[in-house]
Amino acid sequence: MAYQNLIVETEDHVALIRLNRPDALNALNSDLVRELADALQEADRNDNIRAIVVTGSEKAFAAGADIKEMAGKTYADVFATNMFGDDFKRITGTRKPVIAAVSGYALGGGCELAMACDFIVCADTARFGQPEINLGIIPGMGGTQRLARLIGRSKAMDMVLTGRFMDAAEAERAGLVSRIFPAAKLVPEALAIARKIAEKSRLSVMAAKECVHRAEETSLDEGILFERRSFAALFSTEDQKEGMGAFMDKREPQFRDR
Ligand code: CAA
Repeated sequence: MAYQNLIVETEDHVALIRLNRPDALNALNSDLVRELADALQEADRNDNIRAIVVTGSEKAFAAGADIKEMAGKTYADVFATNMFGDDFKRITGTRKPVIAAVSGYALGGGCELAMACDFIVCADTARFGQPEINLGIIPGMGGTQRLARLIGRSKAMDMVLTGRFMDAAEAERAGLVSRIFPAAKLVPEALAIARKIAEKSRLSVMAAKECVHRAEETSLDEGILFERRSFAALFSTEDQKEGMGAFMDKREPQFRDR
């Protein structure tokens, strides 16, 4: 599919989706968000793709929802169209792993998009923030919920109420990002992580992703039950026999996603 606001490349079973509105620091207008949801769904359907990296430019992952597009909207417009809601549901519904590779600004909807991915790696130049409070609004793409779950109430409140930015080192300390790389190495390193995931069995990767997300969505008992059932189900796969057999034979496993 051809996209106006994205550049999509696929190599070694990994899709690299680059947000591409350089003149607006990748501000998320409704076309871009719809295209991103389309591209993720397309990657999910493509059997050749086993992991996905979403990135922006060196200066900005995304500087937030598009303020110029939103400025004139009324409550009725935003509520009736469920602005960003349906497309964000499609984005978070992606079943294959999605890594956000953040360089520069990840603000407002940009920070929320990064958090809607499965995990975030960032450049040492990254700046995360929820500055919506400065615009007389609040985060509207899940920021109050995901930030509080990822970094705890105290830091989330601080960010959401003051609108201050967090640098890469603080974001790693707070648990928002998993790894920091020098800016020039960010995308190659994110692709290398994605390729590593792409070597695994697709079945155990998708099951693992579902289970980790359950940790945020249910009680500990229910989450552990869900994990135990998924764990047991994987013993019905050829890939479990192959993975354990390869360990005992001291060779690399050849997973077949069965
Ligand atoms: N929406 C629309 N346009 C944006 C934008 C945004 N969120 N962020 C940047 N741009 C545009 C600027 O208007 C500017 O365009 P022009 O050249 O046509 O004037 C261009 O991108 C470059 O931006 P700056 O000149 O401002 O660049 P800078 O380096 O001086 O500053 C910045 C960078 C600190 C990120 C600054 O652009 C900024 O503060 N952006 C807004 C950040 C923000 O408030 N984000 C939250 C948006 S609301 C939201 O996201 C709601 C939600 O949760 C759903």
